[in-house]
Order: sequence, then C-alpha cells, then structure tokens
Amino acid sequence: MQSSDIVWQRASVTRARRAAQNGHRSTIVWFTGLSGAGKSTLAHAVEERLHLAGCRTYVLDGDNVRHGLCGDLGFSDHDRTENIRRVGETAKLFVEAGIVVLTAFISPFRSDRQRVRELVPDGDFLEIYCACPLAVCETRDVKGLYAKARAGQIKEFTGISSPYEAPLAPDLSVDTAANSIAQSAEQVIALLRAHGIIDPQAAPAGPGVPL
Ligand code: ADX
Repeated sequence: MQSSDIVWQRASVTRARRAAQNGHRSTIVWFTGLSGAGKSTLAHAVEERLHLAGCRTYVLDGDNVRHGLCGDLGFSDHDRTENIRRVGETAKLFVEAGIVVLTAFISPFRSDRQRVRELVPDGDFLEIYCACPLAVCETRDVKGLYAKARAGQIKEFTGISSPYEAPLAPDLSVDTAANSIAQSAEQVIALLRAHGIIDPQAAPAGPGVPL
C-alpha cells in the first residue's frame, strides 16, 4: 500500500449475511492449465450447473479480462504475474460479495497461484488442475495459436517457449483429455459439495442441463 492514511471501512452487510441470503457459501474456483486444456469450457459448464441451481456465480476468463482490466499486459513472466495478482484481488472481491467466482487463466507459476490462495481465508481457494498433455492441446489448437507459436510468430507461448508449472497438490485434478466436459464438471460440483460451498443436493446433472 502506498499511503499510510487509508483506514479500512467496515461493511454492515457481511459475507455471512450474504451467504445466508444466497443459500450457499462463496469461494474461488481456480482453473489452471495450458491454453486449450479446457479451463474456460469447464468453468462455464460448472457455472451453468450452479446457475440453474440458483447459485450466484461469475466466470473471470483470461481472454476476456485481457480485453479490459489487464489490457495493458503482455505475456512476459512479469506481466503474467501482474495479471494473476490483479485477477486474484478481483476474485477476492467477488468472494466478499458472496459469489462463487470461477477463474480460467493459464496462471503458469506456482508462486503466483499460491499468493492468490493466501489472499483469502483457508479453504476459500480451490485449485483445479485441467490436466491435458501439450500434444493434445496442440492438436486441438482451437485458436490456431500453437501453430503460430511453432512458426515463431508468437513469442513466449506457454508450453512452447514459456514454462508451465503444474500444481503439486491441487484440490482436484481433472483429466480433460480423457473425460467429457460433463464428467469433469461433475467432479468439480462434487468438490464444491464436499467443501460445503453448496448444498449436498444442489446442482444435479440431468436432462435440461445444457453441457
Ligand atoms: S496467463 O499466463 O497470464 O495466466 P491468460 O490465461 O491470461 O495467461 O491468457 C492466456 C490466453 O491468451 C491463451 O488462452 C491464449 O488464447 C492467449 N495467448 C496469447 N498469447 C499467448 C502466449 N504468449 N502464451 C499463452 N497464451 C497466449
């Protein structure tokens, strides 16, 4: 903090009151993995299930956030760290607002993810590793970026010319190469139930759930 003349202002509507009103707790559900590993798709699929169950949710997505809040940042190690710092602080505000916030960022560095974990109370940061081999992400190449990176047209591309540090002890690892999106989403929902974020009966899969 730059200034010492800033005093914390307390809210009378607390996180506990918001949780009571919403009927569920808030948390950060942090998806990490290579580009093309399915972070965004999975985050939105989980959000769909939660939304239909009446939960307050929001997805913060790397590609979207880089159009605005982080539009001044590139892909150097330094800029990626700053990207994750800003997203972490933003996610923390969402948690205080009572919302289940799902974030889809490569977030390649363990230390950056750990810093976000430490920003919020214990248990309010659930790290989901979207495990998908580079070769599979590269074959999918949904945005055509891997081809460009291989051709040397994109510098510092994660997995090709910039590192990715896989989580050592994620709260959940989903095999997005072998499992369907619906199967992976079910695992995340089960994790949220197990952590008491949502009711054990909430967010059932089934007909009418568009996954
Ligand atoms: S992070 O490393 O800072 O967490 P973030 O998730 O915000 O990255 O953005 C990743 C997305 O930006 C990728 O899915 C891809 O579409 C795009 N992108 C553009 N250039 C790069 C690059 N050099 N490395 C990785 N992703 C890139």
